Amino acid sequence: MMDLKDKKVFIETYGCQMNFADSEVVTAILGEAGCRRCESAEEADYVLINTCAIRDNAEQRIHHRLRDLRALQQKRRLYVGVLGCMAERLKQQLMIEEENVSFVVGPDAYRCLPEVMKRVTEGAKVAETELSTTETYSDIVPVRLDGNGISAYISIMRGCQNYCAYCVVPYTRGRERSRDAESIVAEARGLFEAGYKEVTLLGQNVNSYRWEDVTFAQLMARVAEISPLLRVRFATSHPKDLSDELLETMAKYENICKCIHLPLQSGSERMLKLMNRRYTPEWYMGRIEAVRRYMPDCSITTDVIAGFCGEEEEDHQATLEMFKKVGYDYAYMFKFSMRPDTYAEKHLKDDVPDAVKGRRLEEIIKLQGEIALKNNRKDIGKTFEVLVEGTSHRSKEQLFGRNSQNKVIVFDRGDVKVGEYVKVRVTDCTAATLIGECVTAQGGRLNA
Ligand code: SAH
Ligand code: SF4
Ligand code: F3S
Repeated sequence: MMDLKDKKVFIETYGCQMNFADSEVVTAILGEAGCRRCESAEEADYVLINTCAIRDNAEQRIHHRLRDLRALQQKRRLYVGVLGCMAERLKQQLMIEEENVSFVVGPDAYRCLPEVMKRVTEGAKVAETELSTTETYSDIVPVRLDGNGISAYISIMRGCQNYCAYCVVPYTRGRERSRDAESIVAEARGLFEAGYKEVTLLGQNVNSYRWEDVTFAQLMARVAEISPLLRVRFATSHPKDLSDELLETMAKYENICKCIHLPLQSGSERMLKLMNRRYTPEWYMGRIEAVRRYMPDCSITTDVIAGFCGEEEEDHQATLEMFKKVGYDYAYMFKFSMRPDTYAEKHLKDDVPDAVKGRRLEEIIKLQGEIALKNNRKDIGKTFEVLVEGTSHRSKEQLFGRNSQNKVIVFDRGDVKVGEYVKVRVTDCTAATLIGECVTAQGGRLNA
């Protein structure tokens, strides 16, 4: 059988942070097998597309990309493989629809990749889409791909079994399972020792993390204790089980960032019930009040879906009201997209006309823009500690970074270097960005 030594692999990643973290695991597995990473499909022997299935347009994008790759494949030998959630959802079917795809490997089967990639060189078409109840890749040290060398993702659990009515993730990612705490803390420590300043702990519902007797809050504390110079973030928490223990831990450690992503999905009690979210708007508001009680300076962000099955005008109004009440700092806003095999597809009707979904989404986006601008204006005059991440996209003379609240701040470069912590006083803002001036004395450090 052919060897993979020095074969060039290009990985392209779509979807959520978890997919980005998985691509780093895949890169590690393939590196172990002797493959080399390359930076474009043009120079590759294998192209791996790590895919997302969350909405129909996410899948359409992948179909287009696969068709584009055919031109390259007509010129020379190039194997194309599909990984991730769309691979898991469509399995072999994907290779029937897209003839230029040679292999399909689901999220729990990445250890099979080297074997699969050898087999396809003998003309085989291979689908490995078995889901696991135990795989967490905990022994694999991910190879960091988007290398600013400052901020990294750490996957702490896999899968989801909340079965929200609209959502495909439980079918593409399998049962929920937590990764052992020791390996997570060791990975975070390794990153800090390699110069990283920020880690984000990832899971679909981090609040239900549990390894032996370690809760998510305890895990956060252990990671935070590695060093006060290591910032710790996490995503995503489900409102139904956001615990006071976690809020208390967040408040206690200065280096745990004051930012919570708490997906609302809808402000209507009736819709939340249909969505199987298992909380009411009242419960949600209670959690928001708890966040504010423990951390008055915490930012709150959300996800929302416009036009879910049976959504009436008054349900939509309830969502707008909720947005006003909470005053989100940022929101990811989506039009509902019916997904195959979900509860919604089997039992509900996608009955909100597309134009109505679109109009409701626009109303949410417009409102959220106003709220974000108002929130940012309240930051003018305040001074924040900022972790500097890079040069501003607008001007070489400016740097950008984020504060603990995860807001982007742009400021004049001066003597500041990427990767440093600096104090920045906010002087102006837009709805998306804070603008400020660095007020750190030379050599200034965190909490100094
Ligand atoms: N685990 C996270 C969400 C992961 S998916 C949580 O429960 O909060 C990210 C977001 O995509 C969801 O929060 C939801 O707002 C959106 N989404 C999921 N399925 C969708 C669908 N079928 N149509 C539109 N948006 C969807
Ligand atoms: Fe999907 Fe709900 Fe699981 Fe989030 S919690 S991944 S929305 S099923
Ligand atoms: Fe997409 Fe899968 Fe993430 S469906 S959002 S890549 S878990």
